[in-house]
Amino acid sequence: MRLKPVFLQITFNHNMMIPKVQLSPLATDTLKGLSANKKYLLSKYFYDDMGSRIFQDIMHMPEYYLTDCEFEIFKNQKQEIIAAMAKDTVHFELVELGSGDGLKTKILLNALVSSGFNFKYIPVDISKNANDELETSLAALLPSLEVKPETGDFFKVMNHLNGYSGLHKIIFFLGSNIGNFSDTELDFFFNHLAKYARKGDKVMIGFDLKKSPNIIMNAYNDPHGHTRNFNFNHLARLNRELDANFDLHNFEQYSSYNPHTGIVKSHLISLKNQVVQIETLEREFYFKQWETIFMEISRKFDLETIESLAIKYGFEVENHFVDSQKYFTDSLWVKVK
Ligand code: SAH
Ligand code: AVI
Repeated sequence: MRLKPVFLQITFNHNMMIPKVQLSPLATDTLKGLSANKKYLLSKYFYDDMGSRIFQDIMHMPEYYLTDCEFEIFKNQKQEIIAAMAKDTVHFELVELGSGDGLKTKILLNALVSSGFNFKYIPVDISKNANDELETSLAALLPSLEVKPETGDFFKVMNHLNGYSGLHKIIFFLGSNIGNFSDTELDFFFNHLAKYARKGDKVMIGFDLKKSPNIIMNAYNDPHGHTRNFNFNHLARLNRELDANFDLHNFEQYSSYNPHTGIVKSHLISLKNQVVQIETLEREFYFKQWETIFMEISRKFDLETIESLAIKYGFEVENHFVDSQKYFTDSLWVKVK
């Protein structure tokens, strides 16, 4: 089996002095996830260039109501939103975590610039391509706006959030990104946010709300096959980047929604007994017929839960900006401690 170095950094095992290649985060996490008793892959790796493009297909389909709802909220309530966001400060930094193509954010950026606010916009995304495209499009749309993109895992970037300047911060976490966190990640995220936001800093989070399970299932089990492609692209990425040999025909994608927990779960399911080689990991992985790979969670919330989350982590809800169908809320929190 050919050894494919991912980083050119060589480390040595002290006992045997056998060179070991240091694995990339994708390789390390894949090894961990596929070696687990219940196999899983991390959803942050959906977003290579191809995955980011497929996600745009998802956002454009009518069944994926989340994008339309948040778009409607920003379009119809932008003046109220920017007034509430920036009421105590005219000079601030706007940090957006998981900004993607920023299509909806541009509505608010435009309104803020037109109203004469003085701010720097810092989009943070794991996809360099998404950041580059956003920076280029903003240079054309809002040439006076200072844009400082950061490429990387937002959990890591958050560690130096306060290093940028002494200015008040407004932090955006839009599009129901928060819904993709497990309980542990949710707690980790809010603890970090609580630690790094200062009294008076604001946070606006896009939460998808609980609604008819059929509406939710249409968004995550769509007739166009975009959600399926999005999940399959994760395996295709492992083929491309880790020299794996997943045969995508041997898997099926399955999403389910539990109205009791408000959680959509996506799995890939092995259609037969099979062995997959991943050359970069120098490992083979055995999949039994009907064995599952857990891919993603998409959590739906209610307003009471959102309010108790805010209180638990030292914030207060200032406003819930809700769409006309009450499907989605962008909730504005202020740090009170
Ligand atoms: N907020 C945008 C994009 C949502 S898609 C919108 O509402 O349209 C989710 C985005 O988060 C993608 O662009 C993806 O690359 C990014 N992302 C996912 N996990 C991430 C992580 N751990 N760190 C940084 N960015 C991440
Ligand atoms: C990015 N995130 C909020 C999407 C969601 O709705 O959970 C990702 C997605 N997965 C399948 N469809 C959309």
